[in-house]
Amino acid sequence: AAVSDTERVSVTEEKRTLTLCGHVGFDSLPDQLVSKSVSQGFCFNILCVGETGIGKSTLMNTLFNTTFENEEASHHQNTVYLRPRTYNLQESNVDLKLTIVDTVGFGDQINKEESYKPILDYIDNQFENFLQEELKIKRSLHNYHDTRIHICLYFISPTGHSLRSLDLVTMKKLDSKVNLIPLIAKADTISKCELHKFKIKVMSELVSNGVQIYQFPTDDEAVTEINSTMNAHLPFAVVGSSEEVKVGNKMVRARQFPWGVVQVENESHCDFVKLREMLLRVNMEDLREQTHARHYELYRRCKLEEMGFKDSNTDAQPFSLQDVYVAKRREFVAELQRSEEDMRQMFVNKVKETEAELKERERELHERFEQLKRLHQEEKRSLEQKRRELEEEMNSFSRRKVAAEALQACTLQSSITHTIKKEKDKRK
Ligand code: GTP
Ligand code: MG
Repeated sequence: AAVSDTERVSVTEEKRTLTLCGHVGFDSLPDQLVSKSVSQGFCFNILCVGETGIGKSTLMNTLFNTTFENEEASHHQNTVYLRPRTYNLQESNVDLKLTIVDTVGFGDQINKEESYKPILDYIDNQFENFLQEELKIKRSLHNYHDTRIHICLYFISPTGHSLRSLDLVTMKKLDSKVNLIPLIAKADTISKCELHKFKIKVMSELVSNGVQIYQFPTDDEAVTEINSTMNAHLPFAVVGSSEEVKVGNKMVRARQFPWGVVQVENESHCDFVKLREMLLRVNMEDLREQTHARHYELYRRCKLEEMGFKDSNTDAQPFSLQDVYVAKRREFVAELQRSEEDMRQMFVNKVKETEAELKERERELHERFEQLKRLHQEEKRSLEQKRRELEEEMNSFSRRKVAAEALQACTLQSSITHTIKKEKDKRK
């Protein structure tokens, strides 16, 4: 079964082109593909990044000529979060599962350093979900709801000055993760001349900061011309509106001002038609394909490499899944043992520490006990001394008392003898 490289080359070289003698039918393969795709339906996911009230929802309504759910954001969000909403749309016989993801609270925090993170995390989570489905044993990718972001529309404020740091940082973080198209929002609020200068400024800032925006593909002959023309019009300056205004004898989507009407679909008023054309009519499939083949592929590759998978090992041998599993298992077991050993060591140290603490306490108590004992003995000794002194005092007192009593008795005796003698003398 082992075919050498030279043999393989000769097999390829031997391929011959034959002419068919009649209609066989495999020329219907593209039609079969179309029919299968149409019956399966399509999905398309748009991420709108822009500050609160910049016109994200209005533009989506204008783009799909419908009214999606709308919930205005307040300016008091502590953090940015993403709000996905999915809709089933139908045009002719084509079903489209459309998910529109909005940033809520973007640009409303005082410290905006972390504002890009929830957006990045959301994009990565959708890639991760797809990867997990792919890695399942029982996969159901044909009816899997693919939520990977196909296009990120970044809404720039029509300031006429330059891009804000928040815009540059966010776009820079997003450009390797998603197809990024910058838009100048509310383009009716800036004059034609200022808009022209602003577009040039924005583009030059994006280039000088190395922000890679999505380029409409020019390799397919059918769209080369239109796409290369449109690439030169980026960033598109758009206007959205939910109002219809009568222009001539037709009702058109427009914004009415005291000084005139801005028609959304008028190419001399704004680039809305260009955006719709490029996004939905010409490059929708390319956006889907780029998401899968470029951005998802990059995510998948990094993730699998992180997990230890490789295409070939150091000897240029194909890397088997079994090897990866065994290596990972070994790594895991070693890690487990290491952490077990760490835990054991930690426990031993803790026990030693506690033991030392207890010994110290015991020593302190013992010392205190000895001190109290000494104090007690001293007190006992001094009491004993006092008792002895008192006893001595008592003894001397009783001695003096006996002497006094003897003296008193003696004095009494001599006075009695004297009195008797006096009486005897009187009687005589
Ligand atoms: P949040 O979802 O609350 O963050 O806002 P949003 O970005 O979805 O903005 P929304 O579409 O709700 O529009 C906010 C306001 O801007 C509304 O009053 C719109 O009528 C107005 N607006 C939307 N698009 C345009 C536009 O192109 N030009 C002008 N002048 N105003 C617009
Ligand atoms: Mg909105």
